[in-house]
Amino acid sequence: MNVKSLGYIGIESSHIEQWQRYCSDFLGLMNMSTDSNELSYRMDDQAWRLSIQQGKAEDLVFAGYDARDQRTLMALCNQLSELGCPPKKDDALAARRGVSCLYVVQDPDGLQVELYYGATEAAETPFVSPAGVGKFVTGDQGFGHIVLYTKNYEKKYAFYTEGLGFFLSDTILMFGKLMLTFLHCNPRHHTIALAAAPTNKHLNHFMVQVNSLNEVGYANDRALAMDIPVTTLLGCHTNDRMVSFYTKTPSGFDVELGYGARTVDKNWSVAHHNSPSIWGHRSAE
Ligand SMILES: [Fe+2]
Repeated sequence: MNVKSLGYIGIESSHIEQWQRYCSDFLGLMNMSTDSNELSYRMDDQAWRLSIQQGKAEDLVFAGYDARDQRTLMALCNQLSELGCPPKKDDALAARRGVSCLYVVQDPDGLQVELYYGATEAAETPFVSPAGVGKFVTGDQGFGHIVLYTKNYEKKYAFYTEGLGFFLSDTILMFGKLMLTFLHCNPRHHTIALAAAPTNKHLNHFMVQVNSLNEVGYANDRALAMDIPVTTLLGCHTNDRMVSFYTKTPSGFDVELGYGARTVDKNWSVAHHNSPSIWGHRSAE
């Protein structure tokens, strides 16, 4: 059994006001916040998909995976228990996240992983982007993707493949030395990627996908107009073929914003690449 998708993520930061500007005016997410210490954002019909809570981590602090239904959720809990990582049911957290049922477990690097079904939808109030973004690519493909650092690569790989049921998409050797491993659980080419690195941080970057090249261009213009630091210029990745650029968030990690990624299906063959990009993606720093 495998998770259906990455449903939501949570960031902890002491720069809440800067994050509010970054999420609303640059990314174009819909602000649903009711608490000044925790921002909450929508990007589609789901009631929320991104949370920024007050704190010092400047990092990803939880990731929630949609398990579809009770049966799959229980099967995933069994898989994780067999790996020595038994999830615990948390009804109070389920209520806080607005889901029907939720189990929580720490991954091998101590990142909080939440498995749930029954996320609240809010289609009765249409998604409206404050920056005029027409549509984010979510649905079956979930929130987007996250690239995670790990100090326990073998255990981390087993946790996400054997525990959560992810499949290997491909690998990229970056700069001749750093190996990145890309994993999928639905048609999105990768929902998570793993990078072995000696850091206490969890997150390298997260990615949101828009549905036209013009939307990438508009976002690039917004970054320039708002003085949002662009860290990696426009380019096209070798593995998912996404045309994207990267900006620095108020927490210091990056967000990738892109369009046009190819999807994977049951005929996908695992590949290896020695470069991250077909063209572009030059460092702007
Ligand atoms: Fe990415």
